[in-house]
Amino acid sequence: MNVLNHIAIIMDGNGRWAKLQNQKRTFGHKKGAEIVRKLTIHSSNIGLKYLTLYAFSTENWKRPKYEVDFLMKLLDSYLKKELVAYLENNVRFNVIGDISKFSQKLQKTIEKTIEKTSSCNGLTQTLAINYGSKDEIIRAIKKIKDIDNIDEKSFEKLLDTSDMPPVDMLIRTGGEQRISNFLLWQIAYAELFFTKTLWPDFTENELDNIIEKFKNISRRFGGI
Ligand code: FPP
Repeated sequence: MNVLNHIAIIMDGNGRWAKLQNQKRTFGHKKGAEIVRKLTIHSSNIGLKYLTLYAFSTENWKRPKYEVDFLMKLLDSYLKKELVAYLENNVRFNVIGDISKFSQKLQKTIEKTIEKTSSCNGLTQTLAINYGSKDEIIRAIKKIKDIDNIDEKSFEKLLDTSDMPPVDMLIRTGGEQRISNFLLWQIAYAELFFTKTLWPDFTENELDNIIEKFKNISRRFGGI
């Protein structure tokens, strides 16, 4: 049976979910944050080590200002509210992406949450914020000191995910079947799962069912 260390999720469908309820898109994001909470606790309970969630991409700045502002505020309040739950569930909080573009206030909340949860050693929940895989790779290239001796292992150490194992399974909710500039290097051998379920409707039970399918896949990593 396959070992599962790292699940990455593209959480898509908040806006469409809200529209179906005749609500604003922001209502869907708020519900989406509740699902992040539920799924994180569940992942911790089932003994998963790494859960990486795409919460804000480098392309999401193109959204209307009110939506971007809402997402920033939601992130700040989420992290403040979640600290107790992180500690209670032994969850270490981590981010990938370039957070220098965020407000000082949000950067402080992020840094404080990283620091306060740094000794938790159960699940590592990583939020990808102002994250784009192409941006990450370019930033990594700029850190290379000895280009002639770079190899896969040493290059990986320059990526935002340097302290994480590769992604075993990538899930995208919301019905689209694309990667949207998420963890392009890290998913080289990941199993891909696409579900039509909109993120606010995604449940612990659906995650468990996907994990069951993953366990029975023959993973050969290029071998036979
Ligand atoms: C994609 O759905 C979702 C996002 C761009 C934001 C993801 C944010 C959350 C799940 C909530 C905030 C998370 C935290 C941790 C506080 P979409 O809006 O593009 O949906 P659509 O495709 O239906 O329009």
